[in-house]
Amino acid sequence: MSSHPAKMQRVVKWYPPAYDIRVETVPIPEIVEPDDAIVKIKLAGLCGSDLHIYRGHEDVDAPLICGHELIGEVVALGSSFHPGATGRPELYSSLKVGDKVVSPFTVSCGECHFCRVGFTCRCIHSTLFGIPTLPGGQAQYARIPKAGGTLFSLTALAQSTAGALEIADSSLLLLADILPTGVFAAVQALQHPKLSPILTGSAYPSIQSLPNRILTLAVVGLGPVGVCAAVGLLHLMEDIRAEKDLVCQVVAIDPNESRRKKMEAIYAKIGGQDKQCCTFVVAAVDEAKELAKSWTGGAGCNAVLEVVGNNSALELAYDLVQPFGIISSVGVHQAPPIPFTGRDVYNKNASFDFGRCPVRAMFPLALEVLIKRQDVFGGIGEDASLIEKIVSFDQAVESYGLFDKGKCGKILFDPWL
Ligand SMILES: NC(=O)c1ccc[n+]([C@@H]2O[C@H](COP(=O)([O-])OP(=O)(O)OC[C@H]3O[C@@H](n4cnc5c(N)ncnc54)[C@H](O)[C@@H]3O)[C@@H](O)[C@H]2O)c1
Ligand SMILES: [Zn+2]
Ligand SMILES: [Zn+2]
Repeated sequence: MSSHPAKMQRVVKWYPPAYDIRVETVPIPEIVEPDDAIVKIKLAGLCGSDLHIYRGHEDVDAPLICGHELIGEVVALGSSFHPGATGRPELYSSLKVGDKVVSPFTVSCGECHFCRVGFTCRCIHSTLFGIPTLPGGQAQYARIPKAGGTLFSLTALAQSTAGALEIADSSLLLLADILPTGVFAAVQALQHPKLSPILTGSAYPSIQSLPNRILTLAVVGLGPVGVCAAVGLLHLMEDIRAEKDLVCQVVAIDPNESRRKKMEAIYAKIGGQDKQCCTFVVAAVDEAKELAKSWTGGAGCNAVLEVVGNNSALELAYDLVQPFGIISSVGVHQAPPIPFTGRDVYNKNASFDFGRCPVRAMFPLALEVLIKRQDVFGGIGEDASLIEKIVSFDQAVESYGLFDKGKCGKILFDPWL
């Protein structure tokens, strides 16, 4: 007996061990737990994090439905969703079938200790879309566990901003992962206590005033997430740059020329009135090392944002950072040991922050950047657009191949094309 066609959907699947992408027809997910929602997906992102699985670097040995960036419409809700659902995250009482939502790439309950303090990516119920146990977003439908804590309602947002939110779905999709992650990389660096002498103007440990301060930062990796990190950094540095005696300089680094060109086009678009307050140079690796040295009399960068996820990038970050500097790493790193020793870390008094972005907690700040920077996040396929194109699942195999080789930028899938 064959299944009813209405209950089936098209999805992008990955097969082990590596580089094997197939478009298949599988059953539409159903509500399993009372806290679940089913979302009909309008657009899904292809991300650098999909590449770790694609390349076989994640030690996964079962096929999976790919993707973890999705925007869509709620089509079914579990029994936990009802107007009387008080004492729980607000969406359990307000979310309705038909509402537009964007989902962070990990599940977060909104109720545990980690969620309440804002470390939502380490929720005690945390799980990731696009793994064998939780089908991903490169599909026509997805099941969202703990949906009242996980989802972000764009319908509610549009109501609360009196319809002011006329942002394209392709742009709002960036809230699922890469924009919050880029902003997180910048926040993690700029809020680090070791930057306080430079930012406050009081020498460590806060006794003597410090004239002629220079803040030197690097962004390592200019894929879509690196670009978001650079744009987020420039946004956050606006207040800092307003101070008279603080010179700010940023070097943004990628060995791939087309990725550098994209960053340059984006900076040319957003630079505008702020240009004189902050030097921003896009550079290849060797050129960047020289620049960081010459800018700082050999000292190196106060902070380095690592947005690649391999050991060559970590080595570069360690090279670039100055003693008492900070490496804010959001690249997803794999099993091989990191390329520096305890002695290296000791010898630089270096600080390291690694790990997953707490997307749900970063939403408000990321949304602020998204709204402000529609000139780069709003369009598709223009010189200064972060998003390169929207394609159908029929182009999934080709898109994974191109993205893997850095031969295209951010690609979105429309599962209904
Ligand atoms: N921490 C998180 O929560 C989180 C979230 C999303 C993505 N990520 C990770 O962020 C990373 C970047 O994602 P993306 O979508 O931009 O991927 P991407 O593969 O498109 O970009 C990586 C870029 O790094 C460049 N690169 C490679 N080696 C380099 C080196 N030694 N120095 C400088 N640049 C180098 C590549 O040329 C490429 O442009 C990935 O590791 C991804 O998994 C992490
Ligand atoms: Zn992603
Ligand atoms: Zn939680």
